[in-house]
Amino acid sequence: MNIILLGPPGAGKGTQARKLVDERGMIQLSTGDMLREARTSGTEMGQKVAAIMDAGELVTDDIVIGLIEEKLAGDHGGGFIFDGFPRTLAQADALGDLLEKYGTGLHFVIAMEVNDDALVQRITARSTCGNCGEVYNDITKPIPADNKCTNCGASDFKRRADDNEESLRTRLMEYYKKTSPLIGYYHCKNQLQWIPGLGEIDEVAAQINAVLDD
Ligand code: AP5
Repeated sequence: MNIILLGPPGAGKGTQARKLVDERGMIQLSTGDMLREARTSGTEMGQKVAAIMDAGELVTDDIVIGLIEEKLAGDHGGGFIFDGFPRTLAQADALGDLLEKYGTGLHFVIAMEVNDDALVQRITARSTCGNCGEVYNDITKPIPADNKCTNCGASDFKRRADDNEESLRTRLMEYYKKTSPLIGYYHCKNQLQWIPGLGEIDEVAAQINAVLDD
């Protein structure tokens, strides 16, 4: 089963994708994580996209479509979770073509509804384990008192360079201008399912599982 988690920055896409990986053996394909890895490893592409990401703008379609194609050519596991991709209509068309090329398809597009005030609160309180990527939140999921990641035990927590108010404003604008048209696109294809993204993490997970098990 291949699914898209669709939602604005801070909707909880990464948090829910990690739960689906653990619980269902699915493969998380986060273009944001792939781009951050390219930056950290200092590739030419990583250097090219760094300033764009920090400003909160979208990188070009050809770069992210190329990253996704590389992954689709590999192991399909328990299905793919597309997290942060597609983000434009061109990316959505490309994803449809690629899934067809690799003999599979798209089963659900889960749109996560969260209001802007909650997004700002979530993003400005976020930190991530630098070793395994586990996501924390100062308010809803604080780093443990022993300063060790609950998933891998590392003590290397990071805040993202684009998790500041100015970049977040740009990221939200990019979402509403370029990504929200995907709601109509997938609605027309009868693939869109809305879920409320405002509940506790486990409540949101239950809503996603209900869609997938329907
Ligand atoms: P990306 O990394 O994809 O960032 P994003 O879409 O802005 O999404 P986030 O990772 O910020 O949020 P999320 O929905 O995953 O929330 P999370 O689970 O962490 O992209 C970064 C940049 O890369 C882009 O700006 C762009 O430049 C580039 N890029 C990436 N993909 C691209 C593409 N396809 N095309 C072009 N450019 C691309 O949760 C957030 C916080 O809330 C956490 O602290 C978490 O603990 C907390 N939380 C989660 N769920 C709940 C809950 N239910 N209740 C309370 N707190 C919660």
